[in-house]
Amino acid sequence: WPVFADDIDAILDLKRRRNAVILAHNYMAPEIFHCVSDIVGDSLALAREATKTDADVIVLAGVHFMAETAKLLNPDKTVLIPDSRAGCSLAESITAADVRLMRKTHPGVPIVSYVNTSAAVKAESDICCTSGNALKVVESLGTDCVIMLPDEYLAQNTAARTRVKIITWAGHCEVHERFTAAEVRALRADYPGITILAHPECPPAVVAEADYAGSTADMSAYVEREKPARVVLLTECSMSDNVAVHHPDVSFVRPCNLCPHMKRITLPKIRRALETMQEEVTIDPALAERARRPVARMLAVR
Ligand code: 13P
Ligand code: SF4
Repeated sequence: WPVFADDIDAILDLKRRRNAVILAHNYMAPEIFHCVSDIVGDSLALAREATKTDADVIVLAGVHFMAETAKLLNPDKTVLIPDSRAGCSLAESITAADVRLMRKTHPGVPIVSYVNTSAAVKAESDICCTSGNALKVVESLGTDCVIMLPDEYLAQNTAARTRVKIITWAGHCEVHERFTAAEVRALRADYPGITILAHPECPPAVVAEADYAGSTADMSAYVEREKPARVVLLTECSMSDNVAVHHPDVSFVRPCNLCPHMKRITLPKIRRALETMQEEVTIDPALAERARRPVARMLAVR
C-alpha cells in the first residue's frame, strides 16, 4: 500500500523512539489494524492488555472511552488519542447525574455500566462490563436484579440469556441499531446457507434471527473456529475487512454500517499524535480513583 508507506514508516520509527505501543480496536481501518498496531482486539482485550504493557506511551486507536479506560488502568503512563472527538453514541446517552437518579429510584440494585461510558458514569457504577463478558458480570453479582446501563439492546440480549432481571436504559449504538430483522431474512434468502453473526448491540430481533451473537473478538474467534463457507458480520465495516485478511477461503458478504467516530482515527493522525504527543487523555485523579474500581472489578471476573 504505497499510499500509506510514508506514514507507516514514520509511525514505526516514532513508536521505537517514544517507547510507545498502539492498541487498536477491531474497527480500525486495515492499514491501522494490520500495519502499525501492537495489540488489536475488542474492548475487553484492550482493557486487559492496557494493564500489561511496560511501554511509556499508549496510543489508543479507538474511541474516547477506550482511551479513558486505558488511562484509568495506567495513571502514570501517557495515553494519547489521535482524535479526541472520536466519541460514541452510547457514552453520550447517559450522564453521572442520570446514574445517581437510577440508584435513587432502585435502591440496593447493583449498577452494571457498559465500558462504553465516560469516566464520570463509571465512577457512579458498581461494576463495568463489555459485550464479551456481560452475562458473566451480571451473574457474578449474585443478585436477582441488576441495572444495566446504557445500552438497552445489550441489556435485553443479556436478559434473554439469564434469570437475573435486568433494568435497562434507553441508550443505543447508532451503528448497530440500524440493522433490522428484515435485513437478516433478506440475507438468508439471497445467500442460502450463509452464517450470520451479530454484535449484541444490535436490536434483539436481529440477534434472535442470527446464528450467533458476540463481541467483535467473539465474532472473529467464531470465524476462526467454524470456518463457515460464507459469512456476514452484522457490525462495523472494518471488522470484515480485518478478519477476511486471515481467511481467504471464507466468503464475506459485507452489508455493514460505518462508525463515524471510529473512522476519525487515521494513520496521519496517529503519526501526528506520536510526533506532538497530543492529544493526551487526562482524568481528574479523584474521579479516576472512583472510576477505576468498577473497571478493576470487571477485570477480576473470570
Ligand atoms: P467490542 O467490545 O465487542 O469490541 O465492541 C465495542 C464497540 O464499540 C462495539 O460497537
Ligand atoms: Fe459507539 Fe457504536 Fe461506534 Fe461502537 S460502533 S464506538 S458502540 S457508536
